[in-house]
Amino acid sequence: MTCTGIKIAPSILSADFADFGAEIRAIEAQGADWVHVDVMDGHFVPNLTFGPPAVRAFRPHVTTFMDVHLMIAPVDPCIDACAGAGADMLTAHVEAGPHIHRTLQAIRAAGMKAGVALNPGTPAEAVTELLDLADMVLVMTVNPGFGGQKFIDMTAKIRSIRDAIGDREIYIQVDGGIDSETAPLVVAAGADVLVAGTAVFRDGSVARPEIYGQNIRAIRASLKDIRQAR
Ligand code: DX5
Ligand code: ZN
Repeated sequence: MTCTGIKIAPSILSADFADFGAEIRAIEAQGADWVHVDVMDGHFVPNLTFGPPAVRAFRPHVTTFMDVHLMIAPVDPCIDACAGAGADMLTAHVEAGPHIHRTLQAIRAAGMKAGVALNPGTPAEAVTELLDLADMVLVMTVNPGFGGQKFIDMTAKIRSIRDAIGDREIYIQVDGGIDSETAPLVVAAGADVLVAGTAVFRDGSVARPEIYGQNIRAIRASLKDIRQAR
C-alpha cells in the first residue's frame, strides 16, 4: 500500500500543562489525526502525569480520536474510569501485569478500542496470542516515561508484528523519538499510527499554532515516497 492512510497522533506530554484545552484545539486545527494522552503513575514508569479526571477534562476539546496510553500498573482498576472519562482507545502494556488477555477483554467490554503496548525489551511474540483482542499494537521506540528521548530502532519487531497481523484490521502505532527522519523507517516497516511529542510541539505554542502545522506537515512530507511492505 502507499502511505496515504498514516495517522499522526501528537502526544500532549509535550504541550503546555497549564493550557491543555487550547493545546488540543490547536493541534487538531493544524492537522492532527488523533490526540495521544500519556497517563503515567510514577511506578510502572519513573514519571507521573495525570489520571482519569484530567482525561475527562480533555474530552470536550477532542473532536478527532482520544488515544489514551496507560503507563500504569495495575491497569484493570482504571479501565471503567477511563471509559467514563471518554477515552476512545485505551492501550495497556503487556509488561504491566500477568493478565493482559483479561485486561484487553475488559477494555473492549467497557466500550473502548483496545491497544496493547510493548516496551523495547519485549519481543514481538508477546502479542501473538493477543491479536484477536487488539485493535492496535503499540511498539515503543523509547523506554516509556519521558518525551524527547532518542529513537530506538524497532523496525524488525514492527515487520514481524505486521506479518503476524496478516489481513486483520489492526493498527501498529509507534511512540518515542518519531520525527521526519525516523517516521519513514517505521512506516516502511509497517507502522501506520505515529505518535510524536517533541517533533510536533517544537518551537510552537497556542500563540503560534502554525508551527504545529508546519511540524505535522514535515512528518507527512517525509513519508511521500514510502511504500509499506504488506
Ligand atoms: C513516552 C511517551 C510518549 C512521548 C513521546 O513515554 O509514551 O508518548 O510523549 O515523546 P517524543 O515524541 O518527544 O519522543
Ligand atoms: Zn505515549
